[in-house]
Amino acid sequence: MRILGIETSCDETGVAIYDNSYGLLSNEVYSQAKLHSYYGGVVPELASREHICKIIPLILLALERANLKPNQINAIAYTAGPGLIGSLLVGITVGRTLAFSWKIPAIPVHHMEGHIMSSMLEENPPIFPFLALLISGGHTQLVNVTGIGLYKILGESIDDAVGEAFDKIARLLGLSYPGGSMLSKIAKDGIPGKFVFPRPMTGGNNLNFSFSGLKTCVANAITKNNNNYQTRCDIAHAFEEAVVDTLLIKCKNALDYTGLKRLVIAGGVSANCTLRKKMLNMGENYNIKIFHSRPEFCTDNGAMIAYVGMLRINSSSNQDDLSINVRPRWSLTELSPI
Ligand code: KG4
Ligand code: ZN
Repeated sequence: MRILGIETSCDETGVAIYDNSYGLLSNEVYSQAKLHSYYGGVVPELASREHICKIIPLILLALERANLKPNQINAIAYTAGPGLIGSLLVGITVGRTLAFSWKIPAIPVHHMEGHIMSSMLEENPPIFPFLALLISGGHTQLVNVTGIGLYKILGESIDDAVGEAFDKIARLLGLSYPGGSMLSKIAKDGIPGKFVFPRPMTGGNNLNFSFSGLKTCVANAITKNNNNYQTRCDIAHAFEEAVVDTLLIKCKNALDYTGLKRLVIAGGVSANCTLRKKMLNMGENYNIKIFHSRPEFCTDNGAMIAYVGMLRINSSSNQDDLSINVRPRWSLTELSPI
């Protein structure tokens, strides 16, 4: 069984082919970062137009790299939400049209379920139940995962997502979009302790997050201080420390609350090296097994969508009707178990 996965929820066009016996056969990603960096953030209309240009060549490339013909594909999985409506519409239209003409099922996939399951693409995948920390450009959530489609949201951001905060601070520091990984790079040159920022909402038992106050605090420090390279590195370092500590404290609280012994970190921000290192340390100290994906499976990709498509092929409804329905807003808790 081979599934073609299509991801177009935001500004990455991702196409991959997953085989249930042999694993991942190809995984192609085209990032639109350069296009949007000119504007300092994603321009939705440009994103959908760029997906239109790139999606078919990427599908052809994924087939070529996997050495497969279209008639060797058994189903197509596509991201149906959450995400930008125009971008989602490109993936669903191409996915469902190809599936119709190739006479195979089309499977709608939830983007965040893709992120949760991306850790299953690695050599030592987690077993259920586990706690998932989902940290991306649009989401910051702590989820109790007891099975496929069995998700309880324990806490989430009440304002900015953590990736969004990274990108906004990076922009203020003069780094180009998407700034998360660039900020992390210059943070390595920062002198520890030169700046100290708050760890928001870490005082009580509440498992929600808030990053907008921290963002304002860091923005004020950028405005008030000498704008030389070293100062910017010092601020980036202190910001990253504050975010990582906050995520760590929240995860530890959620692990204590649930009694879970496994933690999966997923989504673009889980590529952050400081976060991974500190999470692994915490895991060693408290006997918690930490799971994360290789960097290319942390950020948006078609592999995680193809994988979830394989998991859901027998349980997903409306596989071969011709409707085009995307869900720009879609909670994980609305998914059905399999
Ligand atoms: O999961 P993702 O690719 O897209 C969404 O679903 O939103 O996450 C993208 C986010 C961006 O905000 C990006 O700046 C952030 O992940 N990111 C990072 C790193 N790599 C990507 N943030 C911090 N450190 C990184 N190394
Ligand atoms: Zn994502």
